[in-house]
Amino acid sequence: MNVFLTGSTGFLAGELAVLLSKRPQIRRLYCLIRANDAQKAWSRLQQVFQFHGDAFDSARIVPVVGDLADGSLADRLCRLKDLGEVNTIIHAAADTSFAPSSTESVERVNIGGTQQILNWAQSLPNLETFLYVGTASICGTSLAHCNVLEDQSPSTAAAHLVRYCYTKMIGEMNVTRAIPQEKLLVVRPSIIMGDTRDWTPRSYVIMWALAAVNAIRLIPSNPETHLDIIPVDYTAEAIVELLFAKRNWTTYHVSAGKRSSSTLGAILRAADDSSDGRPPFRFVRHELLQQMKKWPKKLLPQSEILQPEYGNYLSYWNSAFHGNGNLRMLLTAMGPYFRFMNLDQTFDNSRLLADTPIGTPPPAHEYVRKTTRHLNNIDLTEGALDP
Ligand SMILES: NC(=O)c1ccc[n+]([C@@H]2O[C@H](COP(=O)([O-])OP(=O)(O)OC[C@H]3O[C@@H](n4cnc5c(N)ncnc54)[C@H](OP(=O)(O)O)[C@@H]3O)[C@@H](O)[C@H]2O)c1
Repeated sequence: MNVFLTGSTGFLAGELAVLLSKRPQIRRLYCLIRANDAQKAWSRLQQVFQFHGDAFDSARIVPVVGDLADGSLADRLCRLKDLGEVNTIIHAAADTSFAPSSTESVERVNIGGTQQILNWAQSLPNLETFLYVGTASICGTSLAHCNVLEDQSPSTAAAHLVRYCYTKMIGEMNVTRAIPQEKLLVVRPSIIMGDTRDWTPRSYVIMWALAAVNAIRLIPSNPETHLDIIPVDYTAEAIVELLFAKRNWTTYHVSAGKRSSSTLGAILRAADDSSDGRPPFRFVRHELLQQMKKWPKKLLPQSEILQPEYGNYLSYWNSAFHGNGNLRMLLTAMGPYFRFMNLDQTFDNSRLLADTPIGTPPPAHEYVRKTTRHLNNIDLTEGALDP
């Protein structure tokens, strides 16, 4: 199998690259890398393998310089003769930013970039599988408080909390239209956070939100809300299992499902370390977020409930956040995360469990302890600038 993988310098596809490199069925693994030149691309790809000390076989693993935002990417890939042997594409790269300022890039990369990969894929003489890494979150906000099935998405009527989800939905619809069903595999992970192995995860994506909640302590969410969170090592293994499986469907959730999902309260209880004198977590109605956001701007009237009832949190914020600007930025960036939490969604994983031997992942409240010691390494301000 000759595989072309996008996104290998990222959280999930970094794990995919390493896992695929260990499979004897993979003859060559081409990795699309953003870089100014071939040398830098080699060095970025090598770092992916060095991160956890995995072997890098340069005879089998080959970087391909390219940018999904480049409107001539498909033509450039067509001109690279070696790539003519590719029979499997795994398109996992995406602009995953939730920031409103990233809207243009998110659209260009997730819709336009996916189209570039599709245009090139259609020129390949031996294409057998096109694996698109989507997201279960394309189901939108109306499917709240339930266990979402694969067939409930995509729907153009769905309302999305952030542009990222919309662009992932359009990207998936375009892939589904362009690739014949027998060659198509769509994998929709739920929320990927942390790693069950006792080491530093490749990325603090989503863990940033846990670190932010850990710092804020006053949580405008219901502790009983379900969160479908999966570790990155499980996600990558499930995707590779699906790639090699005899599949009965084209679209799969890779998720915790009802059985292994967790609740916000259980995750925070497991992650909590209040030994440093911080106040305990307290859950409040979502509407209080507006008051929380007004407070650092000094726009909150004394009469509002936040002042008299949660005064100890306000004193804590005064001492914990060096300047109100940091707290404001954090609360604004956390807005979409709080709204996602309140959707109370799990994603059905019966297809994955039926077609692969992977089994269910450990619930987040069981493995999150492994990663909480890294919470203090997370730069909250940096994360808030590009949530
Ligand atoms: N994380 C989650 O919770 C989650 C949940 C469901 C689905 N997913 C999906 O899983 C996939 C991987 O997500 P992730 O969390 O691993 O994301 P990530 O860590 O942000 O990695 C994104 C990858 O895409 C690459 N990329 C972004 N823009 C690019 C461009 N213009 N040209 C070429 N490459 C570009 C990045 O390359 P650079 O290193 O050059 O930036 C990086 O390798 C995405 O498709 C995402 O939608 C993620």
